[in-house]
Amino acid sequence: MHDSLLLLYWYDRNSRALPWRTAPSDILSGVKPDPYHVWISEIMLQQTTVAAVKSYFKLFVNSWPTLADMANAEEEDILKAWAGLGYYSRARNLYKCAQYVQLHHNGRFPEDEKRLLELPGIGPYTAAAITTIAFGHHAAVVDGNVERVLSRRHALLTELPALKGEVKPLMSEVTPVDRPGDFAQAMMDLGATICTPKSPACGICPWMEICEGRKQGIADTLPRKAPKKTKPTRKGMAFLLVDDAGRLLLRKRADKGLLAGMSEPITTHWTEGGEMEALDLAPLQEDWARMEKDVKHTFTHFHLEMSVWQAKAPAGYSAPDGYWWSSPDELDGEALPTVMKKALKVGGLL
Ligand code: ADE
Repeated sequence: MHDSLLLLYWYDRNSRALPWRTAPSDILSGVKPDPYHVWISEIMLQQTTVAAVKSYFKLFVNSWPTLADMANAEEEDILKAWAGLGYYSRARNLYKCAQYVQLHHNGRFPEDEKRLLELPGIGPYTAAAITTIAFGHHAAVVDGNVERVLSRRHALLTELPALKGEVKPLMSEVTPVDRPGDFAQAMMDLGATICTPKSPACGICPWMEICEGRKQGIADTLPRKAPKKTKPTRKGMAFLLVDDAGRLLLRKRADKGLLAGMSEPITTHWTEGGEMEALDLAPLQEDWARMEKDVKHTFTHFHLEMSVWQAKAPAGYSAPDGYWWSSPDELDGEALPTVMKKALKVGGLL
């Protein structure tokens, strides 16, 4: 039997029920996926696990049931709802994209890959995923799962990232014209549940008979990866200035760059060779107390180690321009990225 049919039959019986997904039986009876839901989920799922995305997805579609609702929302509210998912430029692009589609496409996503690629925040992966999953057009949807499954299926020894170039045409070839969206999602489910990175369950795999990697006994060693460059460690300091009412001084980060537009307490610049004890960098010469624990956090390109300091604001001190006080019950609603939440926790404020 053809590779794609084997996998589709498996998917019909084993597909995961996911909040953004239209079940294969529903698709068969004519239900159309909602492109708005497909789009949100695919943006969220980049570099984030299905388990982590579920609750965020529900929060987003409950808060903004339609694309028009999101386009008319405040950016700040979108960033707040996104807080904790990471890669905040994706949240800003999500909002930009909603407004773009509302303005230039009458609130409806274009169906074809090329026009999808013109939208903010939509790259080759997302364009292929939306045209295929939401609209049923043929495209090669290649994510990490697909790379793993196909490198094993064909026993490809090429290392990542060069491997990607080999996988795309293979995915295009194996994707059927009928049910391409279900097929793409079947590949993802196979990769997530059976053809897992470690200890793949080859004994129950629908592709067991045709998998070259399994036949050669090398499936679990694939895909091969070029050795990773080690990440540098940057260091810095965070200053939690608290007033008599227990409110914390916050500010907004710059509109460009890492964690753009998110909220934070006062911090130093993070640099390799940066200081963690340099109190001359503190915003006020107060009686700063260093918290027992430091914050450790890993970003895409570096590790961060940050010491956390706390002091009482002097009497009569008011928040400078661009800064504001946030009371303990307001902190939960601030657009604080995970690294800053860690700092607040170390300081006993969250
Ligand atoms: N990962 C990325 N997109 C996905 C999808 N549509 N279903 C399951 N896992 C995914």
